[in-house]
Amino acid sequence: MDSLHYLFSPLRIKGMELSNRAVMPPMGTNLGNPDGTVSDANVAYLARRAKGRPGLLITEIVGVHPSGLAINTQLCAFEDRFIPGLAKLAQAAHAEGCKVAMQIHHAGRESFFMLAEGKAIAPSAVPSLIYRMPPREMTHDDIAEITNAFGSAARRAREAGFDAVEVHGAHGYLLTQFLSARSNRREDEYGGSLENRARFIIDILSEVRRQVGEDFPISLRLSVEEFIEGGYTVSDIAPVFPAFVAAGADIIHASFGTHGSPGGITTAPPEYEPGFAVPLARRVKDAISVPVIAVGRFTDPELAGSVIKRKEADLVAFGRQFLADPDFLKKAGEGRRGNTRFCIACNQGCIERLMLGEGKIRCAINPETGQELLYPQERSVKPRRIWVIGAGPAGLTAACEAARLGHNVTLFEKESLTGGLIRYGASAPHKHVYREWIEWLDGQVRKAGVEVKTGTRVTPEMIVSERPDHVIIAQGSEPVIPPIPGIDASHVCTALDIFEGAVTPGTSVVIIGAGFVGMEAADFLTGKAKTITLVEVMLIFLVIYV
Ligand SMILES: Cc1cc2nc3c(=O)[nH]c(=O)nc-3n(C[C@H](O)[C@H](O)[C@H](O)COP(=O)(O)O)c2cc1C
Repeated sequence: MDSLHYLFSPLRIKGMELSNRAVMPPMGTNLGNPDGTVSDANVAYLARRAKGRPGLLITEIVGVHPSGLAINTQLCAFEDRFIPGLAKLAQAAHAEGCKVAMQIHHAGRESFFMLAEGKAIAPSAVPSLIYRMPPREMTHDDIAEITNAFGSAARRAREAGFDAVEVHGAHGYLLTQFLSARSNRREDEYGGSLENRARFIIDILSEVRRQVGEDFPISLRLSVEEFIEGGYTVSDIAPVFPAFVAAGADIIHASFGTHGSPGGITTAPPEYEPGFAVPLARRVKDAISVPVIAVGRFTDPELAGSVIKRKEADLVAFGRQFLADPDFLKKAGEGRRGNTRFCIACNQGCIERLMLGEGKIRCAINPETGQELLYPQERSVKPRRIWVIGAGPAGLTAACEAARLGHNVTLFEKESLTGGLIRYGASAPHKHVYREWIEWLDGQVRKAGVEVKTGTRVTPEMIVSERPDHVIIAQGSEPVIPPIPGIDASHVCTALDIFEGAVTPGTSVVIIGAGFVGMEAADFLTGKAKTITLVEVMLIFLVIYV
């Protein structure tokens, strides 16, 4: 309780009075209209997060210039015509009593479609690590134009009613490209020394300050460490932090990672402990006196409060936790922490969906996210008898949602336990959060009044005789067994047999298939088998970036 008090304490930054220190950091949604204007879905998504009452919400990336769009449906602020739509976002946050900042952004070389069209610009013509295509080196006129564009976009944010603006200087986009010697090979006053590489960010902060006025808060989001071979560390760039503050930054948002950082560290998977990047925020705090935001796998308000209590950061950002359960702060404040759906950092509904398929944002464990306009809130006026067949994650979620809407639900599972394949997958190293989630979901289903029948296989005859109004089939998947000679031999088994403990591996193991399951099986067997060989027919790259 003590630490929560620190999270829920107010903070004043220039004219902006935050009611608490919890921040929703920027998260791209791809919910915008194709012309870069704000859609109703954008507004509904933000309004839902605002209901959870963070002190500060930060919008997703908003493009400052047509040359810098990361995706072609990105929200934009490069002309005044975008202001009315953006104003709806500000109003949605204010309606719930939250403050809201707009994140302004230029992708530089990290935009596939700009590179493909030959329009991408960057400090130097160094190819993107991910897309492998070179951008055009920016001229002095380009630098002046983009600097001015950041200022004008910030001015539009202020006119749209935002309380602050955040300059996106993180994650390998244009500003990081200038700051990092890996991507900046210039020989003029914008390249070479750290002071020179920081000049573009300083120019932008000064221009934003000039266009928004003295009292309007400016946050600078930085990747304070690149986490890539040859990239800069927090110690390398700490000497320029005071110059960023002098140029106008009122908040430093201490993010990390760049395009191509191994391990997807920016949206860290469960291998990283909650709050793992706090030491980086602490290093920033040591160098400057303006408020610092810590970020990285935070899900628990208590932990966030303890970070603030120890003065390691002034504010804490909860990203994916706001997708998994936007009400988690309220629940913590009301002593209902146990009702929280904690993010499992699977990245499947959110960042992977966005980046691998250009899909719209979802959350693998929260069906409401990204579908706020469709998501039914009211209980059914005509409750039905619903059977759900299969109590894996899909069946448990469907049963829970149907019961929430007032239906009479029976959930059938042929195994003796609920959870489906997650029960096996959760045995892999670092996957305990999956087990906690599935156990939580099982509890929610029972609390919602669903009748759970494990050890029961539903037959067509049962359906014909009992006549439920609806049947939801959520029976899961079967493993694909490739037709390899010898596959039936007694020493061949599936990964599930290994995770379940049904088979004890010998000293030498060959794993066929180096996808996630194969790699996790290898991880699981490390230390148990003497030699492990992974065999894969394809060379697969999984690229995650933000
Ligand atoms: C779906 C998704 C979209 C994101 N989009 C942005 C973005 O537009 N701008 C940005 O600075 N960071 C973006 N991020 C990074 C988040 O702001 C945050 O730093 C990251 O998710 C780590 O915080 P978490 O561990 O609390 O989720 C995105 C992350 C996710 C999951």
